[in-house]
Amino acid sequence: MNAGELLSLCKRRGFIWPSFEIYGGVAGMYDYGPLGTNLKDNIISLWRKAYRQGEGFVEIDSETVNPEPVFKASGHIDEFSDFVVYCLGCKEPFRADHLVGDLHPNPDTLSADELKSLFVENGVQCPDCEGDLGDVEEFNLMFKTNIGPGSSRAGYLRPETAQGIFVNFPHLYRYNREKLPLGVIQHGRGYRNEISPRQGMIRLREFNMMEVELFVDPDDKTWPRYDRVKGRDLRLIPEDGSERTLTLEEAVAQGIIANEVLAYFIWVTKRLLEDLGVDCSKLRFRQHLKDEMAHYAMDCWDAEVLLSYGWTEVVGIADRGCWDLSQHSKWSKQEMTHFKRFDEPREVERTVLKAKYRQLGPLFKGDAKEIASMIEACGPQDIKDGEILLEFKGEVIPISSDLFEVVDVREKVSGEKVVPHVIEPSHGLDRIFYTILEHAYRREDDYTVLSLKPQVAPIKVGVFPLMSRDGLDAKALQVYDLLSEEGIEAYYDDSGSIGKRYARMDEVGTPWCVTVDYETLEDERGLQDTVTVRDRDSSEQRRIPIPELVNVVKELLKGRDFASL
Ligand code: ATP
Ligand code: GLY
Repeated sequence: MNAGELLSLCKRRGFIWPSFEIYGGVAGMYDYGPLGTNLKDNIISLWRKAYRQGEGFVEIDSETVNPEPVFKASGHIDEFSDFVVYCLGCKEPFRADHLVGDLHPNPDTLSADELKSLFVENGVQCPDCEGDLGDVEEFNLMFKTNIGPGSSRAGYLRPETAQGIFVNFPHLYRYNREKLPLGVIQHGRGYRNEISPRQGMIRLREFNMMEVELFVDPDDKTWPRYDRVKGRDLRLIPEDGSERTLTLEEAVAQGIIANEVLAYFIWVTKRLLEDLGVDCSKLRFRQHLKDEMAHYAMDCWDAEVLLSYGWTEVVGIADRGCWDLSQHSKWSKQEMTHFKRFDEPREVERTVLKAKYRQLGPLFKGDAKEIASMIEACGPQDIKDGEILLEFKGEVIPISSDLFEVVDVREKVSGEKVVPHVIEPSHGLDRIFYTILEHAYRREDDYTVLSLKPQVAPIKVGVFPLMSRDGLDAKALQVYDLLSEEGIEAYYDDSGSIGKRYARMDEVGTPWCVTVDYETLEDERGLQDTVTVRDRDSSEQRRIPIPELVNVVKELLKGRDFASL
């Protein structure tokens, strides 16, 4: 199949529309139509169920515009960029690594100079007009804005929802009664000013993310439910590039996946994608090369799916280590640690700084007590060239070594502070949405069926009167109301032949259609009151009494086989 065919169905039937089309559109921007919005919501529901109900994680909803220090701390201002190259002829911008896909196995590991050399050595030219290419430049992908009037307070649209979770860590930790593990999920918009988005829904400038941040004890990367799934298979491409299928247990034992918790959440990702309707024969997990990894990651595996565009990342599962919390703690000067209680109190030897109160008094008068406690909050590592520097009342005050002493002490401690590590499955909702559609798309002799899983299908039941007269239409509308009142997404259609109406529903992936016919009315008199229910995938039909219809549909939605009705 080709992506154009599917995108045109999506546009015609109201799944997605190019944004601002009446003004010519903007590359990398799409709006969700009515069916697309339903499908997107259903994906979010299943993801939420997997993590909130399945793993006991909590959900938050944070701001999309963030002040500058958030992204200074996270590293996005300094590191979150791609290389751009402009055509000297038509002036079109291109993502430099995308122009050398055939010339290098992993172009996004290359530096600006390496990319430039590849262009020169291979005579790479503008793919649009064959003009010469200019210099390779770094381009930060974040959208910048101002918070409030004037330009006094810089802000950025978030490139990931994750930072909203990290900056709320102190609240979340308290909410979780100061315990680890702590799992937090968030879905919402992410914004990246992509250089040259040309792949439909795969590369958007405003996109939807479903992110999971799991805070764990850095010395305990095990997971309680790991044992239940450790025998399951994963198709893996580790860093060395050789593909293999291993159980989770084998992958961890061989050191291919670094720890149990990462392995477990790779498996949860696989199960969720499968439940959403991704074809598992077209799913693999590829480990990032060391020089391909994002600035915050210690290890990263991409869930990649095979699409008409080629293998495409849909979920990134990273071990972010202590990067984010350490950075936010450093920049905000707030504590972002977990107090890890020992089984038994331990006696430890520590080197500490003791303030010399007698000398501090005359020098700092009323501030001496506060300065003394600031000195004692420092450690030997803070002494530089024989002095420590304290920030006090907006000034930096040097404290020379005659104002404190360095002493060794033995003390009993009941625990220690550690910075939690973060395991992050980050799902690209729009890419998953597109994958589900592409993997469900079947076209034979001009007839199109989307074999969507019932739970994600935007419409669950089409409701038709055989004819729009003789009371059949009124009866069908009653059936439609019955389903709608129970929260089952139904669609009433009384135009055209029944065959055409089935075709319209098959094309948008509706799993079942209910028809009210003359027998319904006869049955009604005989108090049987039945309708036909047709199954999209087998085309089989069953007569079901209307009073049982809602329950039957609910059972089918839970996975009951249509043939068993
Ligand atoms: P790519 O290498 O394709 O640019 P990425 O490695 O930058 O992706 P991540 O930063 O890991 O992607 O983002 C997490 C997820 O968000 C990805 O797995 C992907 O599904 C989705 N995603 C990232 N960028 C975009 C985008 N521009 N449009 C749509 N989805 C995106
Ligand atoms: N939060 C994952 C990413 O943006 O890469």
